[in-house]
Amino acid sequence: MHSVSHAPELKVLITRDQIRTRVAELAAQISADYSGQSVVLIGVLKGAAIFLSDLARQIQLDTTFDFISVSSYGGAKQSSGEVRLNKDVDLSMRDKNVILVEDILDTGLTLQFLRKLFLNHSPRSLKIAALLDKRSRRTAPVQAEYVGFVIPDEFVVGYGLDFNERYRNLPDVCILPPDAQ
Ligand code: IMP
Repeated sequence: MHSVSHAPELKVLITRDQIRTRVAELAAQISADYSGQSVVLIGVLKGAAIFLSDLARQIQLDTTFDFISVSSYGGAKQSSGEVRLNKDVDLSMRDKNVILVEDILDTGLTLQFLRKLFLNHSPRSLKIAALLDKRSRRTAPVQAEYVGFVIPDEFVVGYGLDFNERYRNLPDVCILPPDAQ
């Protein structure tokens, strides 16, 4: 593992090349699964913005996207399961093939809340795409249909993911060691 030159506390876990390859594979899978149909991608701000913009450009379907914003009550690194919706969708979800796009599935509490919320919008179908899956941390029974990488229980930043709003712009997914948190 090499470190990031301007942020030596970080170690690269998933390189930009690995991400590019995997995002293209996910997009190909989505394009095949919804062949002949249209999809609506719903990105969860801010972490999913970069993943969504790369994914959307590789999907070979009639595609629209929108963003929602949530905040969870709890610390920066721990979600409590109590989620507040700060910004709702602008588009109607009724009878649409909706794919919720998240940066990372950790405990699953955020997506459990969002799944329920979106099912109330009567979509035709609802699936989840998560770039990263910290499967060992899951407490809520939520699964993503499209997963980029299953990762160990480490705090990661980059490619949209932050620590106190920093590091979102890093092109690689990096580990932030506990002594730097
Ligand atoms: P969950 O509700 O526990 O699944 O939390 C998901 C949210 O927690 C993600 O959307 C991230 O905002 C945040 N999160 C969880 N793990 C990490 C991490 O390793 N790095 C950065 N953010 C994380």
